[in-house]
Amino acid sequence: MVIYISNDEMEKCKKIVVAVSTNVDLIARVSHLPEPGETIGDAEYCLSYGGKGANQAIAAARSGGHVSFISCLGDDAYADTLITSFVDSGIDVDYIQKCVRHSTGIAFIFVAENGENCIAVAPGANNLLRGERMDTILPVIKEADALVLQLEIPYESVISLIEYAHTVDTKIILNPAPAKQIPSYILEKVDILILNETEAMLIAGQSLDFSEPIGIARSLLRRVGQVVILTLGEKGSVIVSDEMEKQIPSYVVNTVDTTGAGDTFCGAFVAQWVEGVDLQDCVQFATAAAALSVTRIGAQVSIPYQKEVIEFMRNRIL
Ligand code: RIB
Repeated sequence: MVIYISNDEMEKCKKIVVAVSTNVDLIARVSHLPEPGETIGDAEYCLSYGGKGANQAIAAARSGGHVSFISCLGDDAYADTLITSFVDSGIDVDYIQKCVRHSTGIAFIFVAENGENCIAVAPGANNLLRGERMDTILPVIKEADALVLQLEIPYESVISLIEYAHTVDTKIILNPAPAKQIPSYILEKVDILILNETEAMLIAGQSLDFSEPIGIARSLLRRVGQVVILTLGEKGSVIVSDEMEKQIPSYVVNTVDTTGAGDTFCGAFVAQWVEGVDLQDCVQFATAAAALSVTRIGAQVSIPYQKEVIEFMRNRIL
């Protein structure tokens, strides 16, 4: 059963730490994704906030999680607005750093009419989240119940945070996006791996036939701590652990923009999981949150609050 967490109960909540990339998303809505050399002249422009890590942190917070995060922003006009929006989502922003003479990360995103996207990221200050800059978050990770990571901050920082969290016994949830290979000695320290088809192929080191997704997740599980969740877009997702394997279908919705749907899934999942919710229910909740997010344009702005997710689940049957 999904847990509804009220404000009063927040104090008692389990703690989630996210080491995050933060971007300003410059979005062009286009009829189709452009071919190399093509100019599309009638795009619609909008600006939204994003970054895989920040999206996941916001999704976790809006799903009732008690979230701290560390992120590097530039010293530009975007930083203060971003911080305000994080505070509005209930995130502890004490560990955000504004980096002098650097710009906040920018993502250039094309969103086609069918909701598909392609993204180019100029990481800016995100690349500075490394070395001593991460020291302030280590005591928080030690006290936390879960550390959530993606691969949009420097790779060596992700590796060292995984090694640290493992030594202090904090559960590690890794979403290896954007897709990169991860060495086995690191993967085995990850408790929960949440990944899509592209990421699965990179980690497996070969092309895969997704007509048998449970088999793929099971073979990845041999290299991971406890759980593998393979997301399959409109085909839903599969969960595999030593105790269970299950395919969860997706909801049929009117897809407008898939940007940030995977991030919404991860954040919403973790907020439920740290509270001890059954794995299958966590994935069902995350699936509903992600389904709601694709019905709206933009990443962070489209991430639902848990009340809306619960309402949606009540009215829809998978
Ligand atoms: O996963 C979606 C995110 O990827 C966007 O918000 C964009 O900032 C890029 O980081």
